[in-house]
Amino acid sequence: MKKERDYILGTNKEELERLGLQHSIWRPHVLEGWQKAGITSGSRVLDVGAGPGFATADLAEIVGEQGSVVAVERSSNYLAYLRYQMEVRNFKVNSYELDLMEDEIPEDNFDFAWCRWVTCFVHSPTVMIQKIANALNEFGTVIFHEYSCYKSWRLFPRSQYHEEFTDQVMKSWRETGGEPDIALELPSLFAEHGLQLTATRPLVFAIRPSDYMWQWPISFIDINLDRMFELGRVTEEWCTNVRNDIEIANNNPNTMMLTPMVQEFIAQKL
Ligand SMILES: C[S@@+](CC[C@H](N)C(=O)[O-])C[C@H]1O[C@@H](n2cnc3c(N)ncnc32)[C@H](O)[C@@H]1O
Repeated sequence: MKKERDYILGTNKEELERLGLQHSIWRPHVLEGWQKAGITSGSRVLDVGAGPGFATADLAEIVGEQGSVVAVERSSNYLAYLRYQMEVRNFKVNSYELDLMEDEIPEDNFDFAWCRWVTCFVHSPTVMIQKIANALNEFGTVIFHEYSCYKSWRLFPRSQYHEEFTDQVMKSWRETGGEPDIALELPSLFAEHGLQLTATRPLVFAIRPSDYMWQWPISFIDINLDRMFELGRVTEEWCTNVRNDIEIANNNPNTMMLTPMVQEFIAQKL
């Protein structure tokens, strides 16, 4: 059995569950993007950096038995969960354990490729986009969700420790070869690899503690503090200070939050 290959966010049980919650919260926006791109019954779709397969399962349901979904992912922990989910739900999804920076995508002829929050963690987005473009059919379409302005993540009223937290997150991704605001580079990379942008929209939300979406940033802070502490990047005292500021925000009836801005891109192979 291969050694687990994790990354800056980790691939443990808590992070896996957080990805599940995150997908449930984002699901309506994702479905809208997929529909706009044209994913439908009979489509052949590649899920790039599929993680534990929460979006993969939705894709398999949409494309049905006439279509097909292929998932590629580097973490064996996540792939084991993805395979379990597909078995329980009786979806026939081919899945491959691979590193997008080193390995080739083993299947091709895709009508669509879906990729969310993966490009921000790889050291060469251009290599990744080249591989995805090569795996597409003529007129195949990509749908990407990536951050375009991570620092748009703000608390109202401001919190010093929350702002330090977002700085730490961005720093940790950059120091491990990623780029949080990778969406800023995607339109040029698409053009360089023969993909023409057909639609794009920013996804940013102003939320309150009572909103379902509130659990998305809050669970990220909770789990990422543990992860950054485990990696020796921050002190216990600093984590406590961040948690205290979040607790104050949770209990303040006037709190509002702007979420880190995600950009949706739909682009078609020429
Ligand atoms: C934040 S998760 C997103 C998972 C999934 N796309 C989603 O939206 O739920 C990032 C995923 O990218 C995967 N990943 C990171 N670098 C990778 C690489 N070089 N090759 C393949 N997968 C990679 C991680 O293992 C992780 O599953």
